[in-house]
Amino acid sequence: MFNVKCLNKISPVGTKRFGANYNVGEDVENPEAVLVRSASMHDMELPQSLLAIARAGAGVNNIPLDKCSEAGICVFNTPGANANAVKELVIAGLLLSSRKVISGIEWAKTLKGNGADVTKMVEKGKSAFVGPEISGKKLGVIGLGAIGILVANAAKSLGMEVYGYDPYLSVDAAWGLSRSTKHAQTLDEIYANCDYITVHVPLTPDTKEMINAESIAKMQDNVRILNFARGDLVNSGDILKALADGKVSAYVTDFPTDEMLGAEGVIAIPHLGASTPESEDNCARMAADELKDYLENGNITHSVNLPNVSMPRDPAFTRVCIIHRNVPNTIGQLAGKLAEFGINIENMQSKSRKDYAYTILDVTGDLNGNAAKMEESADIVKVRVI
Ligand SMILES: NC(=O)c1ccc[n+]([C@@H]2O[C@H](COP(=O)([O-])OP(=O)(O)OC[C@H]3O[C@@H](n4cnc5c(N)ncnc54)[C@H](O)[C@@H]3O)[C@@H](O)[C@H]2O)c1
Repeated sequence: MFNVKCLNKISPVGTKRFGANYNVGEDVENPEAVLVRSASMHDMELPQSLLAIARAGAGVNNIPLDKCSEAGICVFNTPGANANAVKELVIAGLLLSSRKVISGIEWAKTLKGNGADVTKMVEKGKSAFVGPEISGKKLGVIGLGAIGILVANAAKSLGMEVYGYDPYLSVDAAWGLSRSTKHAQTLDEIYANCDYITVHVPLTPDTKEMINAESIAKMQDNVRILNFARGDLVNSGDILKALADGKVSAYVTDFPTDEMLGAEGVIAIPHLGASTPESEDNCARMAADELKDYLENGNITHSVNLPNVSMPRDPAFTRVCIIHRNVPNTIGQLAGKLAEFGINIENMQSKSRKDYAYTILDVTGDLNGNAAKMEESADIVKVRVI
């Protein structure tokens, strides 16, 4: 029986994933696992029993990562769980940046009170709100991660010609990307070619204000820019000036600032990218699955403090999972100890990440309670036999 403590309300879509072998709730004592959304764990005493924490969401600044690593606690997050929610709003943003739906709706409201004349007034006034279709236009997607890929593929199926730029594209991402996406080698290629540009990169010192006067100058006239990633990826003053000059036709942002609100050409959305019930459910489902696989099989997927290591389970073998320091000869020491106990290693996976490493061993032979002896070395943080 495993105990899973929820520090916040977690969608039942997630908590139901734990079967009969789990005791899940907010008042659970001695938890092996913690499920958390936004509750801060920085001042919390981490129980001795704790093996893993899963954050149902992407950011983990409410979790003391270093303390967890030192205590041999694996911390997970749920990257990409809200990607579909963001993708759908980006597609809405593409359409809103093109067709003058928002200003048209605002204008239509002003016709209120004109009785039978409304229909005629609509037909007469609608020409002020003409906007182009997106089909056949070029879309540049900067950053082809969980969200960028979905946006690229959806835009492709809406008839857009898609250029993608991501110098760090992962193999998994490459598998998921529509083959017709044009591989842009440089940002300049995106800027020079695209009618619409959407940014899906993390905010780092390298990407901060990547959309600025200099990059905008390289873009097509009347370009439409979408930012559903982070506000500071775009220099506010520069984009407002480019909108005022008519260089940029529209700026759709999920991160309004005071200066943006009400500015001509700005479509400011109040950070609604991930605000869907499905997104919350996806995070909870993914967090629960990560915890289950770790508790039951020792497999690590989407950890933020330990390397991701997974190995298919073979019921013929006993599994030994070891969190250790990333220093020479730890695996040699482990293998030596196991040989001392008469244990044979059948399969093994090991990876390191910065100061720590994680090794899964499938073994035959009887450990006879010797697992604790493997923790005697200062370089071995935690050993678990499953
Ligand atoms: N609006 C919202 O509510 C909302 C919700 C979720 C995520 N986000 C934001 O969206 C961003 C993307 O999310 P994701 O889940 O797709 O992340 P992700 O980590 O899956 O993808 C990010 C991609 O950006 C690429 N990248 C990094 N630096 C780059 C650079 N300089 N140039 C080009 N590509 C670069 C990476 O290789 C990666 O493929 C995140 O930074 C996050 O802040 C916003």
